[in-house]
Amino acid sequence: MQIFGANITDSVIDYLKCNLKGYVCLKKANNLLFNSFGILNFFETEEELKNLINAISKSYHIISQPDRTEYGDFQTNLNLANNVAEILANKNSLPQIIIEPTCGKGNFILASLQQFRNIEKIYGIEIYKPYVWECKFNIIDFYLKNPKENKPEISIIHNSVFDYNFKQLAKENTEKEILIIGNPPWVTNSQLGSLNSSNLPKKRNFKNHNGLDAITGKGNFDIAEFITINLIETFQKMKGQLALLVKNSVIKNIVYDQRNNKFGISEIKRYYIDCKKEFNVSVEASLFICKLNSKPEFECEELNLYQPNNVGKRFGWVEMKFVSNIDTYFNTQQIDGISPFEWRQGIKHDCSSIMELDKVNGHYVNRLKEEIKLENDLVYGLLKSSDLKNTVISESRKYTIVTQKKVGQETNYIKYDYPKTYEYLTKHQNIFNRRKSSIYNNKPLFSIFGVGDYSFKPYKVAISGLYKTFHFTLVLPQNEKPLMLDDTCYFLGFDKLEFAVYTLLLLNSETNVQFLQSITFSDAKRTFTKDVLMRIDLLKLAENIEISELQIKLNEINEFYNFNLTLDLWEDYINEMKPIKTG
Ligand SMILES: C[S@@+](CC[C@H](N)C(=O)[O-])C[C@H]1O[C@@H](n2cnc3c(N)ncnc32)[C@H](O)[C@@H]1O
Repeated sequence: MQIFGANITDSVIDYLKCNLKGYVCLKKANNLLFNSFGILNFFETEEELKNLINAISKSYHIISQPDRTEYGDFQTNLNLANNVAEILANKNSLPQIIIEPTCGKGNFILASLQQFRNIEKIYGIEIYKPYVWECKFNIIDFYLKNPKENKPEISIIHNSVFDYNFKQLAKENTEKEILIIGNPPWVTNSQLGSLNSSNLPKKRNFKNHNGLDAITGKGNFDIAEFITINLIETFQKMKGQLALLVKNSVIKNIVYDQRNNKFGISEIKRYYIDCKKEFNVSVEASLFICKLNSKPEFECEELNLYQPNNVGKRFGWVEMKFVSNIDTYFNTQQIDGISPFEWRQGIKHDCSSIMELDKVNGHYVNRLKEEIKLENDLVYGLLKSSDLKNTVISESRKYTIVTQKKVGQETNYIKYDYPKTYEYLTKHQNIFNRRKSSIYNNKPLFSIFGVGDYSFKPYKVAISGLYKTFHFTLVLPQNEKPLMLDDTCYFLGFDKLEFAVYTLLLLNSETNVQFLQSITFSDAKRTFTKDVLMRIDLLKLAENIEISELQIKLNEINEFYNFNLTLDLWEDYINEMKPIKTG
């Protein structure tokens, strides 16, 4: 059954029908509901009271739900809310004040009423009026079923969390033990931008983006992150805890920013939640818990909501480094530094339909299925992330046209030196012109990025940025031409095969794999980025490896790939990595 778009049980309808009969005075009706259930200002206006009496006397109609995407509406089921409250209760949490910043239908409020015996006041804030009603109806239903339960003073406030004065609330309850509990909206500012929604903080600078930038989606951030940070900022000096369901990326950002923010929070934990089961969505989210009013801490323990007693790994700051597994990081910390060689990202053209070619029966064919004729000079074999599975590669499935030797180079020469290639590129000029990224603005025709001397190095050691496989690949020339990589890959380029193979062995060594596993995050968009790879101090890695171990690995490679390499150039390799001494 629904009233005002809110679900309501038969027992609550019967109760309201019997008890509000004849009540026309707002004050009397509100007193009755406060005395019976602790709910303050149940009706905001006399009209609301009249409308409710009217509605419950009629047949109840179901209203179809409006689109609530902009409100990031994923209501927590009561079972999950109870699980969360139970975890807190088991940690001896005895809150006197409960704050549910975006309370929805109120399941966290019901779970709190069930778990915590000391509550004096509850504040629930919700923007969507039908949920405000439903939350109030649910509280009545709870007390009709559990008449003996403690009845704190309850305020369910129809307001936006962005306008609500939490500072005042903190001021009024300074001496009390508080619990901030809930599940803030699951929506990002750029989603709101594309929905033309104004459900955003106004006039507030967040992560260096002002209100307008936030609306236009410049710099993507999660609304839940804004709400959580705001609450921590406001309540950090009060006794108590904060427990919110948020995306894992939000928790990671909070711990990452903690080095600058130094909020008074400690015992930071995240409990994994199965979002498919609980919310029927494929999102990585967890319960984020921290203790307020404490000496700032900079790490987070990863636990499981369904097995809360199992010990988990910890991520966060170790001195000046942010790592994904603090315990394993300690074993490999010595190689965390700066790579002596510069990692590069592969070629970017944003034009795969015409720049990614297959070779069929000796002809190049583009993604538009056009058979094309090109001079060979500018055509290079191309490897994509999915090609980097083996340890050594010297053949490509795909080809690409490398129009420049370095970024910004004039491309007029193609017209004179390679007329067929020029004709093909010009024919598809409109596809180049449609590229969205502003990096192509005011650049020569057919410009590409991620190209330089390094692209033409014959030997490369590469990894896919997208895949979670901690395995590096040696890339050899194809028909004496260097193979190119696309922009989902990162690589180091070498002139000497030996140097490339030594690097391959170091990067695939157990120490390096463990190091990378300790600093990369499985939920990151790209597991490997230039920043991550630049942290591998290859010189330290080389100095720490046993030469006998290296020789064994080299023998394996020699045998498997028919090489005949020795460690004769090892010293040269080490010297190449050593910084040049001046003076
Ligand atoms: C993810 S749901 C969770 C609801 C509830 N906390 C729970 O756990 O079941 C997010 C809630 O935030 C509400 N909401 C969205 N924007 C809001 C705003 N600006 N102020 C207050 N509530 C908001 C939505 O209507 C929705 O009820």
